[in-house]
Amino acid sequence: MNASVLVLLVLFLVFVNCHEDKSNEAKLRFYHGSMEEYTELYIYEAQKIFSGSWYNSSRNTVIFSHGFTGRPNGPAVTAVITAYIQDGNSNVALLNWQELASMALPSFASSYLNWAVPNARKLGVRFADTLANMSAAGLDLKKTHLIGHSLAAHVFGIAGNAMSQGKQPACIIGLDPSKVAFENKPAKLRLNPDSASMVTVIHTDITKYGTSEPMGKVDFWPNFRHMGQANQPGCDRRPSPTFSMQDLCSHNRSWQLLIDSLKHPGTLIGSKAKNYRTWKNYSQEERKAVTFTLGKCDITAERGNYYLLTNEEPPYGRGEQGL
Ligand SMILES: *[C@@H]1O[C@H](CO)[C@@H](O)[C@H](O)[C@H]1NC(C)=O
Ligand SMILES: *[C@@H]1O[C@H](CO)[C@@H](O)[C@H](O)[C@H]1NC(C)=O
Ligand SMILES: *[C@@H]1O[C@H](CO)[C@@H](O)[C@H](O)[C@H]1NC(C)=O
Ligand SMILES: *[C@@H]1O[C@H](CO)[C@@H](O)[C@H](O)[C@H]1NC(C)=O
Repeated sequence: MNASVLVLLVLFLVFVNCHEDKSNEAKLRFYHGSMEEYTELYIYEAQKIFSGSWYNSSRNTVIFSHGFTGRPNGPAVTAVITAYIQDGNSNVALLNWQELASMALPSFASSYLNWAVPNARKLGVRFADTLANMSAAGLDLKKTHLIGHSLAAHVFGIAGNAMSQGKQPACIIGLDPSKVAFENKPAKLRLNPDSASMVTVIHTDITKYGTSEPMGKVDFWPNFRHMGQANQPGCDRRPSPTFSMQDLCSHNRSWQLLIDSLKHPGTLIGSKAKNYRTWKNYSQEERKAVTFTLGKCDITAERGNYYLLTNEEPPYGRGEQGL
C-alpha cells in the first residue's frame, strides 16, 4: 500500500468515525421559554450553556428524557416539556438521545435489547460526567431534578449510581421505569433508591412495559391491582398491536400523572402502606395517616410504597377521595 492510499484510508476512517459519533451522539436541548426556542449542544459540550442566559440559579433545573423510540417532538416530550415551561419555575432541558433509543434494528425486541438498552447503559455512565462538567460550570446539582420516562429512568439512575453520594443530583423521578433488562438486576445497573438524594417512582404499567419492582425511596402505585392485568382506568384492556396508542396507554399514564401534578397541585396524593393488601384493608383514617404528593422531591418523605386511585381522564387526581 503506498502512502497516498494509506492517507486516504485514514481520512476515510476518521470521517466515518466522526460521522457515526456525531449522528448518534446524545444532546441536551436547553429551552428558552418555549418548545420552539432552544439551544442544543452535544452532551460533551453541554457546559457551554452556562456562558449564556439560559440558567437562572435561583430556580430548580429540570432535565427530562424520553424512552425507547422517543423523539424530541413526540407526545411525551412535548407534553412534559410544555408543562414545565408553562409552570415557569424551572430551567428546562431535554436529554435528547433519539438515535440511540430508536428502532435501529428490524424488530421491536431486537432494537430494544440489542441497541437501545446497551446504549442506555453507556449513556448513563457518560451522563454522570456530563453532570459533573455542568456542575463545574455552574449547575447546582442540589436543585437539579432528572425526570426519565421508561428506559430514561434507568439512564438517569445509572448516571446517579456513577456519582458519589453527596455529589449526586437532588432528585430523580422515574416514570414507569422499564421492566425488561432491568427488573431483578443488581441495583447499580438500574434505577435504585440511592441513585440520587431523592428517588421517586411512578409505576403505571406493572404488567407490561414498566417494572413491578420498587426502585425508589418513594414508590407510587396508582390504581394498583394485586392480580391479573393492571391497566390504568380509561385504558382499553383488549389486546392491541405493540406500541399502538392503546398498547402504550398505561405506560404513558406515568407522565400524564406527573403533568397533572404540576397543573393541579395537591390533587395527586398517595397513602403509605407496607403493601397493597394492607392498604386495601386500611380505614379512611389510616389511609390519611401518612401521605405524600406525587411529583414532589421532598427528601424528608417517609420511605415506602404509596397507593392511590385516579380518574380515567384528566384531571386524574382525586385528592383525598383517591386514598
Ligand atoms: C467534560 O468536558 C470536557 C471538556 O471540558 C470534555 O472533553 C468531556 O468530553 C466532557 N465529558 C462529558 C461526558 O461530557
Ligand atoms: C430568576 O428566577 C427568579 C425566581 O423564579 C425570578 O424571580 C427572577 O426574575 C429570574 N431572573 C431572571 C433574570 O429571569
Ligand atoms: C404514548 O406515547 C407514545 C410514544 O411516546 C405515543 O406515540 C402515543 O401517542 C402515546 N399514547 C397516548 C395514549 O398518549
Ligand atoms: C385487615 O383488617 C382486619 C381487621 O382490622 C385485621 O384483622 C387483618 O389482619 C387485616 N389484614 C391485613 C392483610 O392487614
